[in-house]
Amino acid sequence: MNEPDAIDATPDHSVWGDESDIVTLAVQWSAERVVRHTDPLSTARTASELARDAGPTITAAGIGGEAALRVFDRVLEPATRSQDDPMNLAYIPSAPTRAAVAFDLVTSAANIFGGLWEAGAGAIYAENEALAWIARMLGWPDTAGGCFVSGGTSGNLSALMTARETAKARRGGRPPGGWQLACTTTAHSSIHSAARTLDVDVVTVPTDARDHLTGPALRAVLEAHPDVFAVVASAGTTNEGLVDDLSDIADVCREFGVWMHVDGAYGGAGLAAPSVRPLFAGIERADSFIVDPHKWLFAPFDCCALVYREPELARATHTQHASYLDNIDRESWNPSELALHLSRRARGLPLWFSLATHGTDRYSVAVEQSLSTAREVADAIRESDFLRLVAEPELSVLLFERPGWSAEDYAEWSHRMAVAGTILCVPTTWHDAAVLRLAFVNPETDPARVIEVLETLR
Ligand SMILES: Cc1ncc(COP(=O)(O)O)c(C=O)c1O
Repeated sequence: MNEPDAIDATPDHSVWGDESDIVTLAVQWSAERVVRHTDPLSTARTASELARDAGPTITAAGIGGEAALRVFDRVLEPATRSQDDPMNLAYIPSAPTRAAVAFDLVTSAANIFGGLWEAGAGAIYAENEALAWIARMLGWPDTAGGCFVSGGTSGNLSALMTARETAKARRGGRPPGGWQLACTTTAHSSIHSAARTLDVDVVTVPTDARDHLTGPALRAVLEAHPDVFAVVASAGTTNEGLVDDLSDIADVCREFGVWMHVDGAYGGAGLAAPSVRPLFAGIERADSFIVDPHKWLFAPFDCCALVYREPELARATHTQHASYLDNIDRESWNPSELALHLSRRARGLPLWFSLATHGTDRYSVAVEQSLSTAREVADAIRESDFLRLVAEPELSVLLFERPGWSAEDYAEWSHRMAVAGTILCVPTTWHDAAVLRLAFVNPETDPARVIEVLETLR
């Protein structure tokens, strides 16, 4: 690390002493890291290797901030996968703007309690500006609103808890056999986790031949299961990137008086892209929605935007009561009252700053760029004589196979590419067959480079 410029000394601190030197070092390290391209070879190591190289760090006397930062720089950070490498195309990667990452640091430095308006008004106002942009893209009324939570898992849980409590209030209590929620097998695993947490049963709706949740299949399930309180539709399934038939689903949900939750953790970003926006028709009639800006809206971990058409239903569900909370101003916008949390970091601020810096038009361009990269790679696969797309892509996830290869062949190739730092592309299964999967969320990914690497599958 270079020698940093000194930062003015902080006021006297009786217990911690003057920490200004270490503040300077940490800020300098962060500034260098944000602008530096990441190393695709950074990867996990065993705990015993890390213990050997890091040495003891938590000691009675402390090792000092400079030494601890050195351990982080040389041993710990290199043992973490660089999420924003343009050739990281596994799972759902994350590719935050530098503005967003830098503002994460600012958000931490400002040390804001983002749960209550009276403590975090300025930050919550800015977060709400970002949420209002999302609500406008959804086509929801100005009265819609929500809050930022840590990720899609907690966003889905909080939304479904609101749906369940609303059904309980409207239908006069819990049905004798308990509540049920309806979704397809393509719904994210966090929906099943939420169902277990809420102690509700999952009713599986069969998908059509192209793996979509459709209106007719949903209608048949709701006719047979009157105690379904919510339907979860996907706006971008994780494995395949498909958007369910939202318009027909909205019709059926209205007809049966069932809550419609849309999980757009990954694909919700497509709302900003004119080329795929028509796929989302019907989303304007949903009751709740999530999108993870840490996936495809260029914000760092951990950030999920949770939006409700009628936020007062969330408030009735999530507001916590205790004698020491009695004096809270309940008339203001309190994010703590809208999800399963109380203390919270103002984690929407990096997204707000990035949007404010670059503008929403540039966000549309960036999402379109991932889509066009995916289309270019898909075309190359279609045209190749040794690869085959197994499903028609809708957003920016591609599933393809190398006919003749086994699951072991894919795993060996994927591992070899990862170890060499060439590409991160891991196999998955599709209709019980092993296939390869690419997820594009980074506008800096060069399609030509990906196509060149796919040649190694020949
Ligand atoms: C569609 C979908 N929903 C929910 C989640 C869970 O989000 P998180 O990992 O932020 O909890 C994911 C994660 O990949 C997802 O793709």
